[in-house]
Amino acid sequence: MEGQRKVLRFSLLFCIPLLQLLSLAAQTIAKVPAIIVFGDSSVDAGNNNFIPTVARSNFEPYGRDFQGGKPTGRFSNGRIPTDFISEAFGIKPYVPPYLDPKYSISDFTTGVTFASAATGYDNATSDILSVIPLWKQLEYYKGYQKKLGAYLGERRAKETIAKSLHIISLGTNDFLENYYAIPGRASQYTPSEYQNFLAGIAENFINKLYGLGARKISLGGLPPMGCLPLERTTNFAAGNDCVSSYNNIALEFNDKLNKLTTKLNHNLPRIRLVFSNPYDALFHIVNKPAQYGFQVTSMACCATGMFEMGYSCSRASLFSCMDASKYVFWDSFHPTEKTNGIIANYVLKNALFQFMH
Ligand SMILES: *[C@@H]1O[C@H](CO)[C@@H](O)[C@H](O)[C@H]1NC(C)=O
Repeated sequence: MEGQRKVLRFSLLFCIPLLQLLSLAAQTIAKVPAIIVFGDSSVDAGNNNFIPTVARSNFEPYGRDFQGGKPTGRFSNGRIPTDFISEAFGIKPYVPPYLDPKYSISDFTTGVTFASAATGYDNATSDILSVIPLWKQLEYYKGYQKKLGAYLGERRAKETIAKSLHIISLGTNDFLENYYAIPGRASQYTPSEYQNFLAGIAENFINKLYGLGARKISLGGLPPMGCLPLERTTNFAAGNDCVSSYNNIALEFNDKLNKLTTKLNHNLPRIRLVFSNPYDALFHIVNKPAQYGFQVTSMACCATGMFEMGYSCSRASLFSCMDASKYVFWDSFHPTEKTNGIIANYVLKNALFQFMH
């Protein structure tokens, strides 16, 4: 008995420090210490809750399948792609929003999102609903770097920034909320010129990130935005099919972003920039929903599924579907958690895998 107990005590004493050592080793070996996110509602985890805008989703039924059934400001019934990506990299299963006072720099050392629903590359897009423009997200990022330096020490903070994965995901609103929805940009630019204008802003943004020490960057492509339920609902002429002209714009713009990626990888020493393109994955889901266990693709789960998002989704939520996992889209503009997970996996396999080892 006495001997056994001694062995037990010895092994416990031996075990605990070993485990600590192992987890410490895992932390220092990890190639991606943090996921740092810029963009729109595709990657906003709730920053808009803390600014005066109507582009919000921090109320029911949003988040009903999130941890604790809580609405957070994510435009989905559950998690968004960056949450899945963070988890796949062995970090937290969600990326916290920078403006939420519930979180502090100790949380943000492993991930943070500066994203703001309804924003775009174009300042004129973020102006429409008074959300956080991309340039302001960069200002927040500079503040974050200062706090990180104070928290980790300058040297470790710099190293963290250089090793962290920076994710950029926006652009849909520049076309659907701005160019094709309100007068202004369409009278100044042809669609192709507007794409070049946006790609120029993307280039400038990546150059600035690089100047601030970022080396691992994912530039996100546009989804087949003509297949979003809101666009299909209003596509009477083609029997509520996807709006092919919008899909073509997304394809053209993605081609430009892809070329930009090649160019910047060539121009900026030691940058590792990847183009993460969700287009094919979402297009396939929309066209072959049954292969993924989906039953509904042209309409969303929330409310009537035809027009609602944000507050209108909340108001009419009595009409919402029971099981969002049967739906490709949660509201008229945003995918369900299940779709987000599939897209995240696809992007991990096809683009982000190179940051995993
Ligand atoms: C957007 O606005 C900011 C702040 O006023 C400005 O610095 C930036 O040049 C603007 N971007 C474009 C492309 O006009």
